[in-house]
Amino acid sequence: MPQIVHVPDQQLWILSGPAASYVLHLDPEGLLHGLHWGPRLDPEQAASLLDLPAPIHRGHQVAADGRLDLAAAGGARFGHAGIQVRFADGTRDLELELTGHRIESAAGSVELVLDFADRHYPLSVETRYLLRPGSDVIERRVRLRHTGAAGTEPVSVLRADSATWVLPPLDGYRLSQVHGQWAAESQLTRTELAYGETVLTSRRGVSGHQSQPWAMLDDGTATETEGAVYGCALAWSGSWQLTLQRLAGDEVLMSAGAQHTPTVHLLAPGEELETPASLGLYSEGGFGAASRAWHRHIRSQVLPHPDELRPVLYNSWEATFFDIGLENQKALADRAAAMGVELFVMDDGWFGSRTHDAAGLGDWTPNPDRFPDGLAPLIDHVHGLGMEFGLWVEPEMTNPDSDLYRAHPDWVLHQPHRHRTEMRNQLVLNLARPEVADWLHATIDGLLRDNAIDFLKWDMNRPFTEAGPVGEGGDDRLWADYTRNLYAVLDRLRADHPAVRIEDCASGGGRIDLGLLARTDQVWTSDNTDPADRLHIQYGFSQLYPAQVMGAWVTDSPNPFTRRSTPLDFRFHSAMAGALGIGGDLSEWTKEELARAAELVAAYKTVRPLVQQGLQYRLRGPEQELSAVQFVAEDGTGTAVLAYRRSRSMGEGAPVLRLRGLRPEARYREAASGRLHHGAVLLARGLPLELPEGDWASALVHLTVV
Ligand code: GLA
Repeated sequence: MPQIVHVPDQQLWILSGPAASYVLHLDPEGLLHGLHWGPRLDPEQAASLLDLPAPIHRGHQVAADGRLDLAAAGGARFGHAGIQVRFADGTRDLELELTGHRIESAAGSVELVLDFADRHYPLSVETRYLLRPGSDVIERRVRLRHTGAAGTEPVSVLRADSATWVLPPLDGYRLSQVHGQWAAESQLTRTELAYGETVLTSRRGVSGHQSQPWAMLDDGTATETEGAVYGCALAWSGSWQLTLQRLAGDEVLMSAGAQHTPTVHLLAPGEELETPASLGLYSEGGFGAASRAWHRHIRSQVLPHPDELRPVLYNSWEATFFDIGLENQKALADRAAAMGVELFVMDDGWFGSRTHDAAGLGDWTPNPDRFPDGLAPLIDHVHGLGMEFGLWVEPEMTNPDSDLYRAHPDWVLHQPHRHRTEMRNQLVLNLARPEVADWLHATIDGLLRDNAIDFLKWDMNRPFTEAGPVGEGGDDRLWADYTRNLYAVLDRLRADHPAVRIEDCASGGGRIDLGLLARTDQVWTSDNTDPADRLHIQYGFSQLYPAQVMGAWVTDSPNPFTRRSTPLDFRFHSAMAGALGIGGDLSEWTKEELARAAELVAAYKTVRPLVQQGLQYRLRGPEQELSAVQFVAEDGTGTAVLAYRRSRSMGEGAPVLRLRGLRPEARYREAASGRLHHGAVLLARGLPLELPEGDWASALVHLTVV
């Protein structure tokens, strides 16, 4: 059980999970320090931290700079301030004092609440620290409140970070992050943290392809299997900013918040601004253990249905693109069902005048030429084949060439006297407006009520531009209100249609974050379905997010995007490391390919609980000629190994791959060959791999304890 202890004499709060502690200290000046983040300490040990030499006070800066957990702008502190406001008289400095604190427990969780208020101005700041059972993740939020009487002037909130995470002194600081772009998401880099401020951000209104709202720091020596790793993530799907600051004395912090800079949120008297959550995790055992701890937390605390296995899906996008019709979808569904697919998803092109990407977005009724009797004939056909039915929607958008836009040209994000920038011929609906959010809810709700839809692929294919109109007095809350209203619509749809599952998509992986993962069931990882590129994307994705939610399709060869040719087995094995889907043009697949695909789908189903619910070990990274990933049952009774060899250089012999997470005393049987292996030998020396000849060779090995 997590524990929070207050030591009143020294004004310490010690927050402890199973293996880690975060210690807060209120100094005599009333500033809240992040005193410790690392291995678990008991209260006596934590109190002794105060006996360590105090940070020295150098000229032109207070000693607390870069060490504050509640980093409010003000005084002789020049580093990043997580809380920045401007009062009506122009004053920007905050002087916060603690006005109360409490520790609350519920259902195994425990939460610390610290209340601060400005000494003079009408603003209170509440900081919360939540620990959940069995996890070292700390979940933090901040709530700002205008405490003035009605009629008092508003307070401008310029930045409200959810959390400022203070790191202890380390021998070095290395930043792990993912960067990317469309069709190249989740590219992992590890670089020394520069002195000064490193800002990871999205100004797009979505969390973005370019970066994801998380970061990890280590001392520069951590490996996949060893070393301490500090991570933080933000549960938010709109614009965001993560500021990593390294000062000259190696005071290092990670501050995570919604909103990019500059935006202003005007807080009226009595009004509150509650930030989304930032989650922080200290872990030992290298990057692999850090990822497994994040996966465990996300599966147990974030995902709505972690115990459900994601179905094998078929998606028609790469097969038919916009050339959709009842007959070609039925034909694809027939072939998909014969292969063992469990969910058939019809992609873009089924509605309004959407026969290409320049028309129809917003008009969510079946195209009468393509589906004269509505969707029921196709849905019935799919259900009759024993599959679930899924449908693509992109409800946050409209094409100027649509009935919706013709009726409501003011519903889109726009600014007066400004051009309306189109991207993919479309404009963003202003969901911050309640009537637009209501329309969106009613439209999708109606679609779900009128049709037996089991699954939605919820897409969002462009970022914000000309984000307006803004509110009175230049209030930029539109950015946050959009995301909050989107969450509210999704929450309501899920509550009213509890059997419907949702895939989060934004031109592939353009909006992957813990905010949407709490409201969807899987993500469309990337529009790049090339299986070799995918190994890199999946490696970066797995740093934080579990395989269970990682949609991965087998498509055609040569790949339509990269033109790379790869064997069918390699394409399958690459996609089997996540939630397997098929996205190829099955009408072109040979009988032999269809038969082999059916075997591979069946093989995936036997290892699916391991992949989707087991522990993931990244055995060898995708930059290596032979790369591999292993999934192990929590109790070590079974494992699935997926290995990939780009080419066989220099006539190398058969590889032997060291495994992890197994029981040394146990013996394991290979499902395909019946061959027996000793756990101890698999761990110490490895599993001999039989890979096919040629480039892009791969294998799936399933081992079970005998
Ligand atoms: C986006 C998605 C694709 C597909 C198309 C349809 O690009 O990422 O998977 O759904 O839209 O237009």
